[in-house]
Amino acid sequence: MVQIRDLGRHVGETVGLVGWVETTRSHGKVAFVVLRDGTGLAQCVLVKKQVGETTWAAHEGATQESVVTVTGEVRADDRAPGGFEIAVSEMAVLAEAEEYPIQPKEHGVDFLLDHRHLWLRSSQQRAGLRVRAEVEQAIHDFLYDRGFVRIDTPILTGSIGEHAGTLFETDYFGEKAYLAQTGQLYVEAACPAFGKVYCFGPTFRAEKSKTRRHLTEFWMVEPEVAFADSDENMRLQEDFVSYIVERSLERCAEELKVLERDTSRLELVRPPFPRLDYTEAVERLKEKGSEIEWGADLGAPDEAVLTEEHDLPLFVHNYPKSAKAFYMKENPEDTRTVLCDDLLAPEGYGEIIGGSQREDDLDRLRERIREEKLPEAAYSWYLDLRRYGTFPHSGFGLGVERTVAWITGRHHIREMIPFPRLMNRLFP
Ligand code: 4AD
Ligand code: MG
Repeated sequence: MVQIRDLGRHVGETVGLVGWVETTRSHGKVAFVVLRDGTGLAQCVLVKKQVGETTWAAHEGATQESVVTVTGEVRADDRAPGGFEIAVSEMAVLAEAEEYPIQPKEHGVDFLLDHRHLWLRSSQQRAGLRVRAEVEQAIHDFLYDRGFVRIDTPILTGSIGEHAGTLFETDYFGEKAYLAQTGQLYVEAACPAFGKVYCFGPTFRAEKSKTRRHLTEFWMVEPEVAFADSDENMRLQEDFVSYIVERSLERCAEELKVLERDTSRLELVRPPFPRLDYTEAVERLKEKGSEIEWGADLGAPDEAVLTEEHDLPLFVHNYPKSAKAFYMKENPEDTRTVLCDDLLAPEGYGEIIGGSQREDDLDRLRERIREEKLPEAAYSWYLDLRRYGTFPHSGFGLGVERTVAWITGRHHIREMIPFPRLMNRLFP
């Protein structure tokens, strides 16, 4: 058997293919079957007079999504999807599909999500998930090339990673456990062992909001660097994001075309990214009519307003302590704020990264844990990191689905993960 992506090497030869029937079209004497094998699409042409009776009968049973084998000669044809056509000599149906629920017409989103296990096969879904896979590979390659060691952090945890508000709690042999909101506290622990580390895995937040940018299970990559300050942290982020975008443009041009993504703005993405201090951001937002008050986190509409003026992603840095997590380092120049940044993607996509320099002072960190009313005992191991050779360090988390939604230009991040988990969705 030959893979469709390799057909170009077999022009003029007779080959065998196996795959799923994407579409069929028949004009009585000639029939066209578009075959999909996961590597591409091939148009198979059957001429009634030339194929035997069994093959002609087989094509009539080849309903949408049936599995078929095809033997035929490869011909170059610019009009065919994929650029090649198969002049079929034989076709057999290995598995006839029942009437397929997804038809080439408008289906509602709920219907498509209910059929996500089948919807995955559609061209735009295939394109989006292939970009996701490329982004994930780019993430690993970038970090590996820069000497980061990958650390796999636990999903069942006893210490709350971010906030108490969005926890999935479960019983762990009589003790309370949570699904990890982040792997950060654990990569911080691995820093003195390896210097530069990262974790990459699913993270969980019981988000009760139904927005286009929230999932309850999403994938996050979290690099952590010893002796890096907040400024260095932002420089790493802009290099990282630029690399991911460049890789996607380079290796997923076809997919981005299928998704009808206008890539002109993505092509501009390279360091340095503009930076805006939180306090200035609030002033600017107020000038533009926002009701935001100093101290609050930025909402999605605020982020959209701020990014409007920029082609590049925008850093907003040094947020108020009250708006951010307990582990962020106090800003010595304005102790109401912390040394942190959010990276906001342009074109209305908003926050794709949250990062910060970590509080490395034992007393101040303990104080913050108390202020946030977090159970101190669960953090004694984390506080140890400030007892035994504390060191300045910084890191960040990039959300994969939000990043891929921006790169592909899709509206909702639920399409950027194979099986989205949303407040009202646990199946399929
Ligand atoms: O800003 P967050 O909450 O930061 C952290 O979790 C830190 N521990 C990261 C670190 O410093 N190591 O989340 C980071 C990113 C967000 O910018 C966003 O891209 C994504 O994770 N994210 C979500 N994506 C989808 N659905 C949700 N509910 C998300 N919550 C956060
Ligand atoms: Mg955040």
